[in-house]
Amino acid sequence: MSDTHFGFQTVDETQKATRVRGVFDSVASKYDVMNDLMSMGLHRAWKAYAVAVANLREGQSVLDIAGGTGDLARAFAKKVGSQGTVVHTDINEAMLRQGRNRLLDEGLVLPTLICDGERLPFATGSFDLVSVAFGLRNMTHKDKALAEMNRVLKPGGRLLVLEFSKVAAPLTKAYDWYSFKVLPRIGRWVAGDADSYRYLAESIRMHPGQEELKTLMKQRGFGHVDYHNLTGGIVALHVGMKC
Ligand SMILES: C[S@@+](CC[C@H](N)C(=O)[O-])C[C@H]1O[C@@H](n2cnc3c(N)ncnc32)[C@H](O)[C@@H]1O
Repeated sequence: MSDTHFGFQTVDETQKATRVRGVFDSVASKYDVMNDLMSMGLHRAWKAYAVAVANLREGQSVLDIAGGTGDLARAFAKKVGSQGTVVHTDINEAMLRQGRNRLLDEGLVLPTLICDGERLPFATGSFDLVSVAFGLRNMTHKDKALAEMNRVLKPGGRLLVLEFSKVAAPLTKAYDWYSFKVLPRIGRWVAGDADSYRYLAESIRMHPGQEELKTLMKQRGFGHVDYHNLTGGIVALHVGMKC
């Protein structure tokens, strides 16, 4: 058996998915309000940027992995129109249920599926675009997940990975203070759960930085990879093309 990281803790690989599930089961009902509060609304701009870079056309097919409460799936669905397809997926039923209910309330019915990003139940070459926003960080075998994302893309298709990354050096001190002192407090007050937000801060520190993730994506089959730093590298959008 091998070890992996759950935030700053070292855990057996077999335990990580269960621990991650615990985090998202706990935060699901407060996820959207916490996202707005913690990022001061910035997550909306980061996602809007990803949607602009996706540059989808009517009729295209999209797979949103770790789609949670459905922000990206909803935006993509508007772009591909009624002739296109957006499959909204997540490993966590509580998160997916929140998302599906929210989209249904807005009159949007999308194919919604519980699935693990590391084992995608789709045929090779199915999608024009695959997206994973703030989800890759939580996966145990990121290399396996990236290879799966590559497999289900059509040749010429693109993967968008929107994820927390390594901040520019001048921001580090303020960002660490905010992450480790402020975030868990907001988590306790609003969601009644400081630990899940401590995990968030720790998991960001353990996630590969911009260049490391680019290398990993290339190793997993993406012929061309670029990244865009957002808000001083707090977040990066990696775009990988299946050549
Ligand atoms: C921080 S949320 C992001 C939700 C949404 N994409 C967004 O940007 O608001 C992370 C999501 O990753 C999901 N997740 C964690 N591990 C996963 C896995 N192995 N496969 C698919 N989804 C996973 C969690 O259940 C959770 O919904």
